Amino acid sequence: MTGPVVGIVGGGQLARMLAEAATPLGIHVRVLAAPSDEGASEVVPDVVVADPDDADALRAFARSVDVVTFDHENVDHDLLRELEGDGVVLRPSVATLEHSDKAHQRRRFSAAGIPVPDFLVLPGGSDVDADAAAAFAARHRDSGATSGDVVVKASRGGYDGRGVWILGEEQLRQFVDSWSGAPLVIEPLLRLRSELAVLVARRPSGEVVTWPVLETIQVDGMCNEVLLPAPIGEALRARAHAIGVQVAEEVEACGVVAVELFVVGAEADGAEQILVNEIAPRVHNSGHLTIEANATSQFEQHLRAILDWPLGPTDGASAAAMANVVGNGSDEPRSRQAEALAAVPGAHLHLYGKSPRAERKVGHVTVLAADVAAARRGAALVADVLAGGGTPIEEAATSTEGRS
Ligand SMILES: Nc1ncnc2c1ncn2[C@@H]1O[C@H](COP(=O)(O)OP(=O)(O)OP(=O)(O)O)[C@@H](O)[C@H]1O
Ligand SMILES: [Mg+2]
Repeated sequence: MTGPVVGIVGGGQLARMLAEAATPLGIHVRVLAAPSDEGASEVVPDVVVADPDDADALRAFARSVDVVTFDHENVDHDLLRELEGDGVVLRPSVATLEHSDKAHQRRRFSAAGIPVPDFLVLPGGSDVDADAAAAFAARHRDSGATSGDVVVKASRGGYDGRGVWILGEEQLRQFVDSWSGAPLVIEPLLRLRSELAVLVARRPSGEVVTWPVLETIQVDGMCNEVLLPAPIGEALRARAHAIGVQVAEEVEACGVVAVELFVVGAEADGAEQILVNEIAPRVHNSGHLTIEANATSQFEQHLRAILDWPLGPTDGASAAAMANVVGNGSDEPRSRQAEALAAVPGAHLHLYGKSPRAERKVGHVTVLAADVAAARRGAALVADVLAGGGTPIEEAATSTEGRS
């Protein structure tokens, strides 16, 4: 075989979209997909079906490719370290992947002077210190800056708002007392002005690029929509880029890293503050719209970066929006494409080939338009049609008016 072989651990939609970006570049992709994984195997001919937790399968897979990268980071890090020690090229490295742990991130970033919410890490297991958690919540309540409610996060294994709980002081004690899982990160429930994402790509030889800053909109802790450009001033934009680059250097990123940001504080000039919520050391849902809206997509850039190839320009369209298609348990988006395209013929559909289990991201839609409000209306409408909502066009148009 000529050309590099990139191995992707995990066979979900991120592997699928990486493979779609690899084809025109002449990069061969091999995917290690668990039997339950849906997404990549529909479009990738070279799939090894085995659980990434199966040590022998992961070892054999890693040794059969030139570079190993990841669709998700829930892989045994000790095993990955062993592979790295044997000379397998992991991009990102295990040291970077460890930043998918929320407690590890918080400690590293706060030590490096990267702004993060105030936080407390409680060790996991059965002897979690409920008094320390209660004292943390009380201190924030008494400061008057927040309500006293806290956000409790499992340091590992959460996604899409799973593993994140908003709790009052009473509930906090009960929760912590009954917890026996991974370490917990506790932080005050902040009054967020908005949430942003900045994507950064970094290659081993040191080149770093960022994409235009995005606004992300979450519903019940799950990212639902992404808007380009984020409606922020130049100072905040420059700050978001600077923090993104600092994070990428700090975690020694290789490939794409997505940095989720909170905007807090008063809107008055200079009073707004950016805090890092969390990072993902890989391609990310917030960057899906880069496929159509930017000169180089996050998926192509990730491949270029992990192969240490020159990175591409990231200039963005004047306005774009992405909306996730979320399963409702019964309606199958793959029977509604024609209806969706009739609603917005210029919409870009991405259906991942996953069964539409409730609350599961099964696709996304990107719409480019003259302004963000129009792009957002279009993407939301098409996502709704695909999800089986079938909101009439006029109603969707008025209900989303002015929301951006
Ligand atoms: N301290 C906080 N104050 C206010 N809102 C918060 C706080 N922490 C988290 N949130 C809200 O909950 C959302 C999910 O939190 P977080 O990003 O930590 O979880 P996640 O499940 O890992 O997310 P993802 O969907 O990115 O996988 C955030 O995007 C934000 O809307
Ligand atoms: Mg998040």
